[in-house]
Amino acid sequence: MAALLEIANLNVQFAGPGGALLPAVRDLSLTIAEGEVLGLVGESGSGKSLTSLAVMRLLPPQARVSGKIRYTENNQPLEIFDIREEQIRNLRGNRMAMIFQEPMTALNPVMRVGDQIAEAVLAHQPVGKRTAWEQAVAAMREVAIPEPERRARDYPHQLSGGMRQRIMIAMAIVNRPQLLIADEPTTALDVTIQAQILELLAQLQSKFRLAMLFISHDLAVISEVADRVGVMYAGSLVELATKRQIFHRPAHPYTQGLLRAVPTLRTDRSRPLQTIEGTVPGLQNMPAGCLFEPRCEFRVEECARKPPELVEVEAGHRGLWRQPQRSTGTFARSRKNLRARKS
Ligand SMILES: Nc1ncnc2c1ncn2[C@@H]1O[C@H](COP(=O)(O)OP(=O)(O)OP(=O)(O)O)[C@@H](O)[C@H]1O
Ligand SMILES: [Mg+2]
Repeated sequence: MAALLEIANLNVQFAGPGGALLPAVRDLSLTIAEGEVLGLVGESGSGKSLTSLAVMRLLPPQARVSGKIRYTENNQPLEIFDIREEQIRNLRGNRMAMIFQEPMTALNPVMRVGDQIAEAVLAHQPVGKRTAWEQAVAAMREVAIPEPERRARDYPHQLSGGMRQRIMIAMAIVNRPQLLIADEPTTALDVTIQAQILELLAQLQSKFRLAMLFISHDLAVISEVADRVGVMYAGSLVELATKRQIFHRPAHPYTQGLLRAVPTLRTDRSRPLQTIEGTVPGLQNMPAGCLFEPRCEFRVEECARKPPELVEVEAGHRGLWRQPQRSTGTFARSRKNLRARKS
C-alpha cells in the first residue's frame, strides 16, 4: 500500500546577503503511512517547521523549494507542489490539518470560538450554518471541553491556554482529516496541561486512525506519541528509525546526545543534565563536511572535509554514517551510554 505522505529529496533554500542560496532543509526524504505517527525532533533552527510548512504548501514566498511531496488518499496520488491552488486549499484544513505552538496567534480574537470551528466546516462541507455549529460543538466535546454548548460562545481570551489549544485541535479534526501536523503543540503550555494535551492527541489519533507528523525539540515528548522518529540537524534528517531503534540503538552521535539530555527516573538530579555542547550552525556558516562535526565527540579528521553518507544501519533504520572504523565504536559506546543511564 502506498504511504499517505511521501516526501522525496525536499530542499528549501533562502537567498543570503550576497544572493547565494542558503540551505534550510537539505535533501530530506521520509514517508508516513496511514494511521502512523512520525515524530520529528531537533534543536531550534533545524528545519522542522519548514518541512511541515512545505507539506501544507505554506512556505514563505521567498523560499526556493525543490523535491516532491506526494499525498495519497483512496489510491489517488496528489503532487503537492504541482496541484492547482484550488486543490491544495481543498486539502488544507480538510484532509490535512495543522496545529501550532501558540493558539492565540492562530485564533481570531474577535470571533466566538464556536464560529471559528464552524467556519472550518463551512469551508469544506456542503452544509448550512446550523449543522456547522452543531459539528463545532460536537468537535469541542470530542476534545473534552466541558459544557461545549456554552463555551462555544466564548471568545479566545475567555479561555485558558490549554482550552485554547483544545479549540485549535477541535478545529483541526472537525473535518476528519487523515493527516494531522502538530508543530510543537504543547511547548507553550505548563507541564500538567502539556501531559493532558498529549494524552488527548494520542486518544484522537487512535480513535480516528490519524496519521501524524509530530514536531518537538523534546525527545521525551516525542517518545510519548511517536511510532517512528526522525532526527533533524541543521536542515538534514540525520537519522530515521522506529522509536525503539532510536532509543535502544541510536546511530548518529547527535541522536545519542539528545538521548543523554532526556531526564529519566534514575537520573541523578543533583548533577546537571548532560547536554550537547555548542549550537546549531547558522545558515550562513555551515561547516563544509559533516554539519555536526564541530560538536561531535567522535569526529575524525575526514569529518571536516567530507559529509557522511546516508546508509541503512539495520532494517527500517537509516542514518548519516561514516564508514568504516568509527561505526562499531559509536554503536558500542551508545549502548554503554544507555546502560549507564539506566543503572
Ligand atoms: N523566511 C525565512 N527567511 C530566511 N530564513 C528562514 C526563513 N524561515 C526560516 N528560516 C531559517 O531556516 C532555518 C530552519 O527554520 P525552521 O523554522 O524550520 O526551524 P525549526 O526546526 O522549526 O526551529 P524551532 O524549533 O525554533 O521552531 C532557520 O535557520 C531559520 O532561520
Ligand atoms: Mg519550528
